[in-house]
Amino acid sequence: MTSFTAQPISELFSVDGLVAVVTGGGTGIGLMIAAALEQNGATVYIVGRRLEMVEKAAREHNRHGKLIPAQCDVTSTESVDALIATVQEQHGYINLLVNNAGVALNHLPATGAPGPETGDIAAFQSALLGAGARADWGTTFGVNVTAAYYTTVQFLALLDAGNRRPHAPGVTSQVVTVASLAGFRRDEKNFTVSYAVSKAAAVHLGKLLANMLKGWQIRSNVIAPGIFPSEMSDGLVSEEAMKAAVPLGRQGDINDMGGLILYLASRAGAYINGSVQLIDGGRLSLFPSTY
Ligand SMILES: NC(=O)c1ccc[n+]([C@@H]2O[C@H](COP(=O)([O-])OP(=O)(O)OC[C@H]3O[C@@H](n4cnc5c(N)ncnc54)[C@H](OP(=O)(O)O)[C@@H]3O)[C@@H](O)[C@H]2O)c1
Repeated sequence: MTSFTAQPISELFSVDGLVAVVTGGGTGIGLMIAAALEQNGATVYIVGRRLEMVEKAAREHNRHGKLIPAQCDVTSTESVDALIATVQEQHGYINLLVNNAGVALNHLPATGAPGPETGDIAAFQSALLGAGARADWGTTFGVNVTAAYYTTVQFLALLDAGNRRPHAPGVTSQVVTVASLAGFRRDEKNFTVSYAVSKAAAVHLGKLLANMLKGWQIRSNVIAPGIFPSEMSDGLVSEEAMKAAVPLGRQGDINDMGGLILYLASRAGAYINGSVQLIDGGRLSLFPSTY
């Protein structure tokens, strides 16, 4: 018989006992995700290339002593393997992997490549071909897409083990990939071309993983944020410009991002698989998009 009795909110949204790894968890959005989980009872490995940054984040934001800093470069198979060995030894499983580490390089043409009004397409071309531009594409895809895929692949055994140690009944292991609203925008003023295209790929990767991992009962979902305070977004949109840039008139904060990850990671979000969660205060509605 169908039951119409919901769990109380304290159980439905609980992440108590969950074990997670958040890449890029020492700053910005990754730290919001990690802190919201840890402050509500999860154990969270926060990883980044700068050990001092993740150690500082753990020192300043630990509520239960369960934010664990670890150094890792997600573009290196060996470095991810070393992280996995640590997690394997300390816990032997994870319930949640958040592929949040990301970079935005090659800030052209938003920073002012000469446009058609100059009549000089050669100047336009040379701005786009600028020093290091092609290498920046490789680096951007290497972190935002390739590393998200291979980090997931490397963590599969621990995610599979997590399915035998769920933090709550009915909640299967999950990969969450942090993409961006930029991955949907079609306008020419988009952040940068390499970043936008890498984030479109990250969205598709998240959807594809849901299908690829379904036989293992490992879910995959995507978070596509709008503007949140971070090292990456610092100075991109001024406070005065924020009102016009976001229909809700502000950037996102830890309760916005924290609320979403608590939903996805808890029993409340256990039926969410292969989805894209846009969280942008309505910003994407201001642009032509593929969403
Ligand atoms: N803030 C926004 O408005 C916004 C909007 C949409 C999407 N996003 C996405 O949100 C995610 C987090 O970005 P953020 O805005 O919070 O910027 P952020 O503060 O610059 O965070 C990026 C994090 O990724 C880590 N990282 C970069 N390369 C890495 C690597 N190779 N290995 C391990 N960690 C690496 C960085 O730490 P280390 O340098 O120490 O390695 C840093 O902690 C990114 O995927 C970004 O594209 C942000």
